[in-house]
Amino acid sequence: MNDSILQSIKERALHQVSESNDSSTIEKIRVSFLGKKGELTSILRSMKDLPKEERPAFGQKVNMLRETIESALSEKSKTLHKIEQSARLRFEKIDVTEPAAAVPFGSMHPISLVQEELEEIFISLGFNVADGPEIELDHYNFELLNIPKDHPARDMQDSFYFNPNVLLRTHTSPVQARHMTSHKPPIRIVCPGRVYRCDEVDATHSPVFHQMEGLVVDKGIKMSDLKGTLDVFAKKLYGPETKTRFRPSYFPFTEPSAEVDLTCSMCHGKGCRVCKGTGWIEVLGCGMVNPNVLTMCGIDPNEYSGFAFGLGLDRIACIKYGVSDLRLLYENDTRFLSQF
Ligand code: DAH
Repeated sequence: MNDSILQSIKERALHQVSESNDSSTIEKIRVSFLGKKGELTSILRSMKDLPKEERPAFGQKVNMLRETIESALSEKSKTLHKIEQSARLRFEKIDVTEPAAAVPFGSMHPISLVQEELEEIFISLGFNVADGPEIELDHYNFELLNIPKDHPARDMQDSFYFNPNVLLRTHTSPVQARHMTSHKPPIRIVCPGRVYRCDEVDATHSPVFHQMEGLVVDKGIKMSDLKGTLDVFAKKLYGPETKTRFRPSYFPFTEPSAEVDLTCSMCHGKGCRVCKGTGWIEVLGCGMVNPNVLTMCGIDPNEYSGFAFGLGLDRIACIKYGVSDLRLLYENDTRFLSQF
């Protein structure tokens, strides 16, 4: 055992350290020279074979070499650590100026859009928006609206009943009955909302759909007020050229009653696919509030009169947006809905 062994260890160790270029190699070098089974460690162990007097001097040289290797290793590992860290920082760098991934916005449902548009038209005419429950009493849905017990609408086949007195409202008209029993004239309201009927689903029917009810009650309200109001409404909805056409009809809660057609907004009356060639589209039912209804709701028909109307929001939405199948409005396919 002599100095040349130490010299050779030193040269190899320092060479390997200088050649190394990652932390794991540094660790391998440390283990191979300084670890429990490392070269230098085994030299230290074999010192017992040296003559006693040579041991201290040789021991000192081994220790010095150990320190030299250790400090070379730690220098190199510091340098490598810096290089590795800056490489990592470069890799992990966040560009705070980069535009964020776009968050997809929801969109308004076509029925909500039409509902809001109609509300705005009627608010501009001095109406208020009123609300009522979708789970309704037979009393408001039928009784107060002068719908007799044997009326076909009361048939279990047509309405969703919970029990003989409670059902899902079949129209928005019960809101007018509720409003009249709790408010004194003058009354000017529109009541938009969901209504339910036992209908099979097809392109023009759905068991749930939307209506908007209108009601005006005051002294001296005449049929001409109804016609004037609906005419202004039609022109605001489909443009100033739009005409209204009243056809006699029957509703238990109005007398006289009418159904109202508007000139088709697609062909302006010429006749097209939407209006089935007639030039007209049927949008609502209306009439003068039946005096029986006023009386049952606590309003004196000798003092007050009123008009009412009910229109289908789904139909108006389909016509407005050219939707040919009602089911599209209820399937909640976002590819369809995001177009509006
Ligand atoms: N409630 C009727 C329906 O669902 C629509 C209606 C017609 C409402 C005439 C009215 C009205 O207020 O006067 O078919």
